[in-house]
Amino acid sequence: ARKFFVGGNWKCNGTVEEVKKIVTTLSEAEVPSEDVVEVVIGPPFVFLPLVKTLLRRDFSIAAQNCWVRKGGAFTGEVSAEMLVNLGIPWVILGHSERRLLLNESNDFVADKVAYALSQGLKVIACVGETLEQRESGSTMALVAAQTKAIAEQVMHWSNVVLAYEPVWAIGTGKVATPAQAQEVHFELRKWLHVNVGAEVAASTRIIYGGSVNGANCKELAAQPDVDGFLVGGASLKPEFIDIIKSAT
Ligand code: 13P
Repeated sequence: ARKFFVGGNWKCNGTVEEVKKIVTTLSEAEVPSEDVVEVVIGPPFVFLPLVKTLLRRDFSIAAQNCWVRKGGAFTGEVSAEMLVNLGIPWVILGHSERRLLLNESNDFVADKVAYALSQGLKVIACVGETLEQRESGSTMALVAAQTKAIAEQVMHWSNVVLAYEPVWAIGTGKVATPAQAQEVHFELRKWLHVNVGAEVAASTRIIYGGSVNGANCKELAAQPDVDGFLVGGASLKPEFIDIIKSAT
């Protein structure tokens, strides 16, 4: 069985005071045990040490990006080795905000995924179509191409979580319907089955992201191929706890 996974992507938000408040709220919450749900919080780089110090031990931490290869003369970048050195186990890669605003290509994202894995990081790899692509009927072709680039470079999938995040649902309040999410998750799992293998398809968590909140998470979580969530806006609020609880 695939363990339910809830990631909180804080994006470019927060002050020291807000971070302390959010982490305290999370620490005081009663949530299902880590045998039932894996919770990973993704603060901006500068808050990683603070969050690591304060966060409850049954939750884990992700960075939101890392450099594509070994560190060195790459001004402004943060390397996978640095995250490992800091004891940060996870990294989010290929988020649509980086693909679209910073022109990260499928191959560049795949290179990052491969390098991060090679350094021992666990990766939340994001894929998803724009509204234009959905309306032109190319959703599956698009997410398959994004996944293919990653699959060509990844030999071991046990440290990869695949996040399906339709761009039109991110930060818009327009959550995918449970049927829409299930359809793409099912197709992605089928793609993995055909192109990578039965075992990887059966064991890889495919999580949904895009306007997930405390009210819509239960029905999404009930879909057979939805193995959890990557939460943006609601991960900064107490309702994140309700989303974690949707694991049971
Ligand atoms: P929202 O939950 O704010 O729509 O963001 C989703 C997301 O991009 C998580 O990575």
